[in-house]
Order: sequence, then structure tokens, then C-alpha cells
Amino acid sequence: MALTDLLAWVPSGSPDEALARRIDADRLPAHVAIIMDGNGRWAARRHLPRVEGHRAGIEAVRDVVETSARLGLRVLTLYAFSVENWKRPATEVGTLMTLLKRYLRLEIDALTKNNIRFNVVGRREGLAPDIQHELGSAEQRTSSNTGTIFNIALNYGGRAEIVDAARRALTAGLTPDQLDEQQFARFLYTAGQPDPDLLIRTSGELRVSNFLLWQIAYAEIWVTDTLWPDFRRRHLLEAIIDYQKRDRRYGGINQPALAGR
Ligand code: FPP
Repeated sequence: MALTDLLAWVPSGSPDEALARRIDADRLPAHVAIIMDGNGRWAARRHLPRVEGHRAGIEAVRDVVETSARLGLRVLTLYAFSVENWKRPATEVGTLMTLLKRYLRLEIDALTKNNIRFNVVGRREGLAPDIQHELGSAEQRTSSNTGTIFNIALNYGGRAEIVDAARRALTAGLTPDQLDEQQFARFLYTAGQPDPDLLIRTSGELRVSNFLLWQIAYAEIWVTDTLWPDFRRRHLLEAIIDYQKRDRRYGGINQPALAGR
């Protein structure tokens, strides 16, 4: 898909169309990663139980996944459940898992229609067998899709991923002198994918929260006060417009400054 698919989808004359037209299709971030935060606060502001925030968050997931596919992003990663989230009350954890299952059942056709490949990143073996089954089936049904890869981070921790990668590298028999950054990245959950160019966090918190620690080394960070259930297409477009204004130097200096020497 491409920007034209997005423009065909957004209502003509709407503010979202104006935003979409400001995006430079040749300089899209290859990979956008999102820390979806603020579901609990969204619910609290409405005097609702926390789980209602998660339920409302599904609509934001749907909108962002479809927008990413229509824009033609190569990878979208959503942080849905961390290794630390098991500390939450069992009822909240149970609801999150039920919502995930329901989301997959309801959205699998839309994922397929939009040529999206669904992929799980995290310690999936720590999830309940029925959830693992549902995830595996969604991965399988979308495995031949060639568009956006939708990574869902589940039972995910950045440090856990690095430890898992180190274990896999050792198991594969890599010797210390064979190991460099490129070789190591082959053992991460995201092997073969570009690193995130843009990391978005909702609800105004200025933390990385153990998310894609290796991969975000040079990511541009965009934080919004918007709570996740209120996040929509226009916020993603705003983040990308802002990203396209940034001067990415990867620890070097920018090209005009270099030319001036
Ligand atoms: C953080 O908000 C959000 C989560 C821990 C879960 C995110 C899950 C969803 C949006 C729904 C399920 C996802 C999919 C893909 C089906 P919080 O509860 O920490 O909010 P708070 O900081 O305001 O308490």
C-alpha cells in the first residue's frame, strides 16, 4: 500500500486528509513502535473500571494498524503486554488476554485484506496454551502477506529479549570472535526487520519501559499527552510529520555542517 491508499481512505476535505498530504512518502519511517499507555487513566477519568480503558484501547489499535498498512509502513510494533504486567491483578490480566483473543478473531479478515503479516514478539511460551494457539493461528493465516508486519509485543521485556538472544547465539555455537552487533541482531525477536525509526509513547510519560532496548538505539522519540484509547490516525500522522522534520545524525554531524568544512 502507499500514501494514495491512505488518501483514498480518509474523508476528503477532512483535517486528516490535510495531515496526510503533509507527509513525504519517500521518507516514511520504516518501523514505528508504540508504547500504548494511559488506558487505566482514561477509564478512571470516566469513573469506569480499568479494564474498560483496555477495551476502548482496541479501537485505537484497529485504527493505527489500518493506517500503518495504508501508509505502507514496513513494520509497526505495539507494546501490548510486558513481562512486568503479570504483577497486575489476575482479573485485569485475564481481561487483557480475552480482549486479545477477541481482537484476533474479529480482525483476522481485516488483517488479511490489508495484506498485513501478524507476528508475535516476546516470550510466547509463558502465555496460556489457548492464547498461544490463537496467536499461532493468526501468524499462520497471515504468513504469506507481503505488506506491513504487525508485531505485537506480548510477555515482552527488552532485557529478557537480549538474554534470550544471547542464549540462542550460544546455542547456535557462535564463538566470541564471530559475535558482533550485526550477528547478535540475528538472534533478536525482530531478526531481519529494520530497527524502529520512530518510537511513540502515549499519555505523556517520559520512559522507555524496557521496550525494544536494543532496537531503539537511534529511534526518534515522540510523546503525546493523548491517552491510548483516544489515539487515532491523526496522531500517528502528526508523529510522522514531526519525525520528518528531525535531523537524524546517528552520533555523527549533519551533512550541511560536514559540507561546510
Ligand atoms: C497501558 O495502560 C496499556 C496496557 C498495559 C495494555 C495495552 C493493551 C491494549 C490497548 C488492549 C489489547 C491490545 C490488543 C492488541 C488487542 P495502563 O493500564 O498502564 O494505563 P495507566 O498508566 O493509565 O494505568
